[in-house]
Amino acid sequence: MGRLSKTYMPSRAFSSISVQHKETPENNDSVPFEFTDENYKEIDKILKRYPPNYKRSAIIPVLTIAQKQNDNFLSLSAMRKVAKILEVPEMDIFEVASFYTMFNRERVGKIHLQVCGTTPCLLCGADKIIQALEKHLGIKNGETTPDGWFTIQEVECLGACANAPMIQVNGEWVYEDLTPESVITLIEKLKKGEPVKRGPQTHRNDCEGPQGRTSLINFNQERTFDRDFAAEKVAYQKEKEAKAQAAKEAAAKGKK
Ligand code: FES
Repeated sequence: MGRLSKTYMPSRAFSSISVQHKETPENNDSVPFEFTDENYKEIDKILKRYPPNYKRSAIIPVLTIAQKQNDNFLSLSAMRKVAKILEVPEMDIFEVASFYTMFNRERVGKIHLQVCGTTPCLLCGADKIIQALEKHLGIKNGETTPDGWFTIQEVECLGACANAPMIQVNGEWVYEDLTPESVITLIEKLKKGEPVKRGPQTHRNDCEGPQGRTSLINFNQERTFDRDFAAEKVAYQKEKEAKAQAAKEAAAKGKK
């Protein structure tokens, strides 16, 4: 494990990005927000999961839809719209959106780099990852590059501790087992739109230890492997088609 750098003392706030609302030309009450028809359909589907008097249970999934539609950040109008749809006080929405680092309260770069800075990642060199990104991009943690490409944000544990240190990009894919060098190669490839390996950026496939996979050994000390999901999918599809065909034939017989 790497030793903590003396020069980098991470802030222990939930996020390095401010959660307070800042009036900007693109984020104020006069900038309208309306969900697309397609997203309204999605919201209807989500609301059907809950009793009508528990619409607030849908706050996180509906905010997620709003953020995706709004270029990866939640404007004031978007949050107000969510409050209206879910029939909850606006403050409840502001609180949720401010608490979770998965929600961005201000515009972020096209490539939003969330670097985990919690203990396991920090012990494995998260501070070096942040320093490498800051140096390469010429910005500090919590800032966006002037060309709008990258934002660096330190966040709390993202659930990939066994593959520390790691980053999450645009709230979606994670890239793990990073080094200061591999993280720079990775972000440059992302910018160019080149294919990148998701997950561990080393020889590892998942989070197996230095001895390789050991937890799936059977009684005969043989190694067993995961199911072949591709083959399972083909078999499932065939079975589904056969059932549909049988139902069709039965319906045709019934008409005769
Ligand atoms: S501590 Fe970094 S992913 Fe959990």
